[in-house]
Amino acid sequence: MPTTTTRPRTTSSTDAIVLLKNDHREIKKLFADFQKAGDGAEKTKQRLVDKMIELLTVHTYIENEVMYPRVRELLPDLEDDILESYEEHHVADVLVMELANMKASDERFTAKATVLIENVTHHIDEEEEEWFPQVRDGLGRKALVEIGREMLAARKKAPRRPSQPSALKKTIDAVIA
Ligand SMILES: [Fe+2]
Ligand SMILES: [Fe+2]
Repeated sequence: MPTTTTRPRTTSSTDAIVLLKNDHREIKKLFADFQKAGDGAEKTKQRLVDKMIELLTVHTYIENEVMYPRVRELLPDLEDDILESYEEHHVADVLVMELANMKASDERFTAKATVLIENVTHHIDEEEEEWFPQVRDGLGRKALVEIGREMLAARKKAPRRPSQPSALKKTIDAVIA
């Protein structure tokens, strides 16, 4: 391998699937930390849930805004997977909105966070195992890098809290689109 190359190094990091999988890894780490936290670790659990809410709000936004519509348009065979994924996002959005209004000391906080973790873990696994591989085969690297660039741009204006209007609008759009 030559040591110099004219290709920008960002090429690989803007691959849409690589970007989304990096997010997934970060989100799953928070889930694992939450599950390891003891029953009474309210401060830790609150901090972890606050971070989950932020990462999930941004991640869902860039998928709803860029990845899902692009895939739906370019690979019509994946329509059913995309529609199911929008519904799974909606369930997660509802749980996230409810959790954002709770405190770690609330009786149902840990239960609700656990249901969120179970739902999102299932959703991430379906993305990574069932339809992302078909997207990679169907679109190829060039299109994925292009979509990745669009997602990086969308990330800059993404809401970080579910109460922000653009996050709420996306939740509603996902349901009635
Ligand atoms: Fe998703
Ligand atoms: Fe995802």
